[in-house]
Amino acid sequence: MSKVSIIQKNNFLEDSFCDFFIDYINNSKNKTTHRDTNIIYCDRTAVLDEIIEFKVLLAKLTFFVKKYSVNTCINYSQIVEWPAKSLQAPHLDFNYHTHTSILYLNDDYEGGETLVGTKVIRPKKGKIVLFKGNKIKHQVLKIKSGKRYTNPTWYITPTRKEKINVN
Ligand SMILES: [Fe+2]
Repeated sequence: MSKVSIIQKNNFLEDSFCDFFIDYINNSKNKTTHRDTNIIYCDRTAVLDEIIEFKVLLAKLTFFVKKYSVNTCINYSQIVEWPAKSLQAPHLDFNYHTHTSILYLNDDYEGGETLVGTKVIRPKKGKIVLFKGNKIKHQVLKIKSGKRYTNPTWYITPTRKEKINVN
């Protein structure tokens, strides 16, 4: 990540997997509405962790991030539904999240671009974008119509001083 601060890759996830996760959140009983917005999300829970498609996704994400930062691993991953008119204001992620990825599960909506720094990322089904969300301000522009589905993932990179001491 030292040379390129925003990495984009098309066709990261097959369409059938993207559709699976959209169906999953639409039918899930484990979804929560975000406290500040009308965004709906499914957390990485024991239920989601047991689903083979999610295990495959986590493995693919781990393999992907390690190409750029070998000691980095997933801390948190969600499936999110963004209703029409929703948006996310410019912000930085928690400092301990060294990397952030956004995987677009669909693109049949208007608006909803991700702005990372000054770069506009256009959603495309199966595409992933990876960046340092704790360093580069980012936002989601308003979804004008339709529903936007994404898989955001936050990563940590343990450092030597954060290692757990085992006596
Ligand atoms: Fe963020």
